[in-house]
Order: sequence, then structure tokens, then C-alpha cells
Amino acid sequence: MAKSFRILHITDPHLHAHRAARMRGVNTDDTLVATLRHALADPHRPDAILATGDIVQDETRVGYERFRELTADRGLPVYVLPGNHDSPAIMRDVLSGAPFQFCGVAEHGDWSLVMLNTFASNDDGGLLAPGELEFLERTLAGHQSRHCLIALHHQPVPMGSRWLDGVPLRNAAEFLTICDRHAHIRGIVWGHVHQASDRDRNGVRLMSTPSTCAQFRPGSDDFALDTLPPGYRWLDLHADGSIDTSIVWVE
Ligand SMILES: [Fe+2]
Repeated sequence: MAKSFRILHITDPHLHAHRAARMRGVNTDDTLVATLRHALADPHRPDAILATGDIVQDETRVGYERFRELTADRGLPVYVLPGNHDSPAIMRDVLSGAPFQFCGVAEHGDWSLVMLNTFASNDDGGLLAPGELEFLERTLAGHQSRHCLIALHHQPVPMGSRWLDGVPLRNAAEFLTICDRHAHIRGIVWGHVHQASDRDRNGVRLMSTPSTCAQFRPGSDDFALDTLPPGYRWLDLHADGSIDTSIVWVE
């Protein structure tokens, strides 16, 4: 049986220039360190790390350098894409060159991982620019014989939380229209919403992953924190196109 592609999905670490800085009472450096330690102690090693944005909270180069320091020497490719809090230019500058890849497509076995940039200036919501939509369409068309997992920062479907649904992927309809044309998409994963979710849409698995720092309370109309600890997601992408996945909470 062909080997599965195992991804460690982390998201929204919100690092700061100053390592002692806290966000909503949480030292985000400590929680990212603890999350990576927990996940990489698992005897079933991942084949790659995927980080879906809000790597840095304060748009500083130092924050990206810290992320690089924590992830570069793990013997794994590290796939990154930007969120609304990121500075894509600085991020691309610091997190490029092996083992890092900023957006684009990565192939492992029977799977293609398609990573999108939804950053939009002066907006906590996201947008796929025309070039990014073209890239998606072209990549999906060129990878017809493979299973595809799409990763992005912003949610392409409502989360049932009024304030978060005010800052979604703004052109989700265009994105989903493209997705609906391609039957080889198996899953879509995102960050941004600091909470776990898992649903099916037309046979495609849609999943959000908790942050490596604080979580947001599901279903809340207004901003509210949850009491859950940092978390991460395992994604086991099998050769037959099926996905096994689980959330791990770092107590
Ligand atoms: Fe975000």
C-alpha cells in the first residue's frame, strides 16, 4: 500500500518581536514552543509542517525569524501562507528557501497541497486576488490525476459566529465555484477562526484548526475567548484520497 502523506497543521501562532509579549493573556512564544514539542514527540512523525497564517502578530521581521528558528531544523518541509496579521513581503523574505515554501503547490505521493494567499491590505477579512484565482484554477486543472488539499487562512464558509463571519474570505463564492468544477479536491483547511470544525460540502472535507495560542468561543456573536488550550491538527492523506484527521489539545 502506498504511503500516506502526514501533515502537522499548525496555525495562528501570533508571535511578537518581544518573546515575553502576551496576547489576550497568553505568551504566544511559549504556546508555540509547547505545541511543537508536543506534536513532534509523537512517534508517528509528520512528512511536513503546514502553517496557515497569522505567524506574527506585530508584522515584525523578528517574529518571522523566531518562527524560522523554531521550525527550520526539524528535518521537515515547512509550508507557510499568510494571514491578515502577517506582512506577506517580510514573511516571504524570511521564510523562503529550504525547508520553507511560501504558498504555491507541493506534491507528496498521490497528493498535491495547494496553498493560497488571501491577504488583503487593511482588512481582517481575506481576498483571493485575480492572479491567485488563476493560479488555483490552473493548478487544479494541471493536477487532475492527483488528490488535492487546499490550504488558506480565511474561512470560505460561515462559522456561525457573527463577528468572525464579518471577516471571512470575501470572495468565497468565486473560490467555491472553482472548487466545484474539480472533483479531485478532497479537503480544504484554514486557520483564522481559532477553533476546530469539520464538515462535508459536496464530498469535500472542510476543516478549521485551532490556534497554537488562545481559542475563540464557537457560535459567539461578539468576540469571546474559549477556555480551550493551544491545539493542532493531524492530517493523514491516504493514497485512495481519504483523509484521517484529529485535533490534539496541548494541556
Ligand atoms: Fe487571522
